[in-house]
Amino acid sequence: MLNLMHFLPLNKLTIFAALLSISFLSYSKTLYVSADAMVDVKNGKLVKSPVLVIENDTIVKIVKQGKVDIPVEADHLDLQGQTLLPGFMDMHVHLTSDPTKHGYKRLSSSIPRQALFGVTSAKKTLMAGFTTVRNLGATGYADIALRDAINDGDVIGPRMFVAGPSLSITGGHCDNNLLPPEFKVTATGVANGPWAVRQKVRENIKYGADVIKFCATGGVLSKGTKVGAQQFSQEEMNAIVSEANLRGLVSAAHAHGTEGIKAAIKAGVTTVEHASFLDKEAIKLAKKYGTYFSMDIYTTEYILSEGEKAGILQESLDKERVVGGKQRESFRQAVKAGVKMVFGSDAGVYPHGDNGQQFSRMVQFGMTPMQAIQAGTINPATMLKIDGKLGSLSEGKLADIVAVKGNPLEDMLLLADVSVVIKDGKIVKQ
Ligand code: ARG
Repeated sequence: MLNLMHFLPLNKLTIFAALLSISFLSYSKTLYVSADAMVDVKNGKLVKSPVLVIENDTIVKIVKQGKVDIPVEADHLDLQGQTLLPGFMDMHVHLTSDPTKHGYKRLSSSIPRQALFGVTSAKKTLMAGFTTVRNLGATGYADIALRDAINDGDVIGPRMFVAGPSLSITGGHCDNNLLPPEFKVTATGVANGPWAVRQKVRENIKYGADVIKFCATGGVLSKGTKVGAQQFSQEEMNAIVSEANLRGLVSAAHAHGTEGIKAAIKAGVTTVEHASFLDKEAIKLAKKYGTYFSMDIYTTEYILSEGEKAGILQESLDKERVVGGKQRESFRQAVKAGVKMVFGSDAGVYPHGDNGQQFSRMVQFGMTPMQAIQAGTINPATMLKIDGKLGSLSEGKLADIVAVKGNPLEDMLLLADVSVVIKDGKIVKQ
C-alpha cells in the first residue's frame, strides 16, 4: 500500500480507493429472515414476529415485522409457522467415530478412514442444526484435520473445537485395551505422572488442540475398566488442568465415578462429562467451583437397543444397565440444585445427526424447555468464552440460526427435526 501511494498521484489514488470500496460493497449481501417467533435465550423468552437482518456473516438488526421495509428484490426467507433459535452447540461429540462399529469392529478403521468418516458426520451434524461442536477425543489427530478442512472450506460442517487424543493412564478408559500385550498397542494420549501429562498437554496443543480432554475414571465402552473407579490421581489432574489453563485452553474430564468427579472438580476442570454417579458433595463442589456438567442422557437408549449389533462388548452392556438409570437420576438432582449445564451428547457412540433427540430427554429428566435450549446454546458459548459472537440471536453476533416448524417450548421433539440451518450467514439447509 505504501508503495502504491508513492506512485499514484492523489486524484488517481482517490479513484482507486473508491473502486476498492465499491468492489467490497458488491460482496456485502443482505438477507432478511422472518418467522412467527424467535427464542431469546438471553432473556429466557419467546419473541413474536421477528425479522432478522443479516449482512454477510452477522446479524445486524432484529426488529418486529412491519418495522422494517424489506425490498421486494431482497433475499428474504419468510418462515411462516416456524420458530427461530440460535445454532445449537453440542459440547461432546466424536465426529470421527462410527456408531455402527464398536469394540473389536472399530479396530479395522485406520486413522485416515476415521477422518473421512468424519466428513459425513460433520455434514449430518450441521444439517441437524448443530453449528458448533466440541470434539472430545479422536484417534491420531483426525479431528484436528477435520476442523481445519471445515475452516478451509473443503468440507461442510459445524464450527469445531477439538481435543485431539484424550489423555489417559495406561490401561485407562482412553487407552486402547482390546489387544493382548504382544501387539503393544498404546493410545496416543497415554501419559503417567504429573510431568508426563503436562508434556502430553503441550504435545496436543502443538498439533492444534483447542481443548484438553482427559479420562478421570473408568468408562462404559472401554474393556476392563471399572466405570466407578478413579484413574488419574489428584496430582495428575491438577497438573493437566493447570497446564491447560496456563495455555488458555478449557478442559474436559470424562468422569462417571463419584471420587473421580470430585477430584476433577477440585483440579478446576471446566466441564465434567457424563457425571453419572453424583452425590450431594459432588454437586456442592460443582456449584462452588463453577464447574459445568455435560451429561449425555440420551446415549443409553441407543447402547441398550442397538449396541450389541454394533459390537459393544457384553461387559459394556452390563455396565450401561447400571450407569444409564443412575445418570438420569443424577441429572435430575444436578438440575434441581442449579449446577451449570451444557448440552453434551457423545454422538459417535450413537448416530451423528440424532444429537437433537437429547433436548426432549433433558426436559423429561427435570429441565424446563428453556433451560434445555439454553444448555444447547448460550451456556456452551459462555463456557467457551465465545458468547460475544455466538450462543444467542443478538445484534452484532454471527448469524448461526436454525428454524423449526412450530413452537419448541411446547414440543421439544421439534428440535430433533430442524427445517432451516444458517451458519455464518450462509443458508446451508432449507
Ligand atoms: N463414552 C462413554 C463411556 O464409555 C459413554 C457412556 C454412555 N452411557 C451413558 N449412560 N451416558 O463411558
